[in-house]
Amino acid sequence: MMKRKILTLLLAVLPTFSYAAGGGVHLDSAPIDISDMESVKRGANHFVDYCFSCHSASYMRFNRIARDTGMSDGELRENLIFTTNEKGEPTKLGSLMEVAMTDAYAKEAFGTAVPDLTLTARARGADWLYTYLRTFYADPYRPTGMNNLVFPDVSMPNVLSSLQGIQKAVYKTETRQGVDVETIDHLELAQAGSMTTEEFDVFVADLVNFMVYLAEPVQNERRSLGIKVLIFLVIFFVVAYLLKKEYWKDVH
Ligand code: HEC
Repeated sequence: MMKRKILTLLLAVLPTFSYAAGGGVHLDSAPIDISDMESVKRGANHFVDYCFSCHSASYMRFNRIARDTGMSDGELRENLIFTTNEKGEPTKLGSLMEVAMTDAYAKEAFGTAVPDLTLTARARGADWLYTYLRTFYADPYRPTGMNNLVFPDVSMPNVLSSLQGIQKAVYKTETRQGVDVETIDHLELAQAGSMTTEEFDVFVADLVNFMVYLAEPVQNERRSLGIKVLIFLVIFFVVAYLLKKEYWKDVH
């Protein structure tokens, strides 16, 4: 009886495993280090330069990034804040990272709203982002002229193509259940950009590192606090054990 119950339970959760493991494209592992604040800082610059015209990160304030990465107010104005408010005054250092693009405008321009990117690294994961940003390829059937390996039929243009260059898909033919199907084998650089592939990978890694920081700015503190708490618990265990021995030594 018990065995049957366990078997039923296993069968019920089995599809979730296969879902998590399967599903298409191999994701490249993102070579990031969230404790490397210099990389986060470079990523913040890339984000403002290449993404912030469309995407907001509206749960983050500019001066929080400055504090966490050790940027001065001057550096912050020089590197991250180029916008003005509706009165034409420069954006305040403590402002949220919001963009002026409305959903209605975005729908007209891209056919869809442009998502806020504050929490995307948590929803999608660093590896997904690292792969997504590096796997745009030319596709004449798309309105932007570009498609993406991990986000098929994406409506975002490849905003990094001047750096990466333009990739094209190399196809292979597979026989599935007796039918020949064409699938993408790999991507190949068809036109060079201003960076080499290695330089571009580092650029994207910094950007992803920033987005991982963005999704949880306290994670470094959380980790170091966690270690301190564990050390405290170990010491406390020793003290508690010695006390227990002392209290109980006559009770036998
Ligand atoms: C020209 C406007 C524009 C720029 C600039 C831009 N994006 Fe996008 N992005 C979009 C649009 C539109 C979508 C929605 C795509 C869709 O749903 O098909 C999108 C979607 C995304 C997504 C998928 C979000 C999700 O979870 O579905 C990510 C991640 C992303 N962008 C990252 C970036 C990054 C990083 C940059 C800077 C390097 C950037 N984008 C620059 C327009 C833009």
